[in-house]
Amino acid sequence: MRVYRATDYYDMSRKAANILSAQVILKPNCVLGLATGSTPLGIYKQLVEWYKKGDIDFSEVTTVNLDEYIGLAGNDVNSYHYFMKQHLWDHVNISPEQTHIPNGTARDANSECLDYERLITRVGGVDMQLLGLGQNGHIGFNEPGTAFDKDTHVAKLSKATIEANERYFAREEDVPRSAITMGIRSIMQSRRILVVASGVKKSEILKRAFFGPVTPSVPASVLQLHNDVTLVGDAEALSLI
Ligand code: PGA
Repeated sequence: MRVYRATDYYDMSRKAANILSAQVILKPNCVLGLATGSTPLGIYKQLVEWYKKGDIDFSEVTTVNLDEYIGLAGNDVNSYHYFMKQHLWDHVNISPEQTHIPNGTARDANSECLDYERLITRVGGVDMQLLGLGQNGHIGFNEPGTAFDKDTHVAKLSKATIEANERYFAREEDVPRSAITMGIRSIMQSRRILVVASGVKKSEILKRAFFGPVTPSVPASVLQLHNDVTLVGDAEALSLI
């Protein structure tokens, strides 16, 4: 694992955006695995800026997102589909056919999971997967206790995740209780993984995930078994390492 120490959130975002854009420059038709949440916001902002300056071209890029809430349509402001359009897709030269995210309103969520897994295979697998890290150690919506061998599946959100995500919704009751998420096996099949973490609230879990035992109770700890992981953290997130 490579660790890049960034001074602050802005520096973390720039370093991670540099790594993603290097991937796009080296392989213009690459498949990027994308993530939502507050941590990647600065990365997307930076990528959009570089796109506007003519420094990065997404015309041949395909993207697959990690997860989506069950029950939220793509035009719901809290859906991850909406998030991606708002922060990246609508601002760069990527056509909608090249962007993929699970359908949270599919009639049959389980068959949507199978279709999504097939889609990842069909596009050739993920070249670089971006990951944030939940305070409980989750990656995607793979909550503590999730088996490492799961493909894309329907996941129940843990209490900790519901509480962490409540800030985006009017009321706690509005937070969806389940989601479709790429599984740990799907994530581990990515050729390269880029993990980003910011803030002191991530310091403890970062230490446990990357320097503690590999265990399903800390889903991100599985990343210790991947042979190409890059971690970009800011000083606060890396303060215990
Ligand atoms: P955050 O979420 O980037 O909003 O901290 C990360 C995650 O829960 O995966």
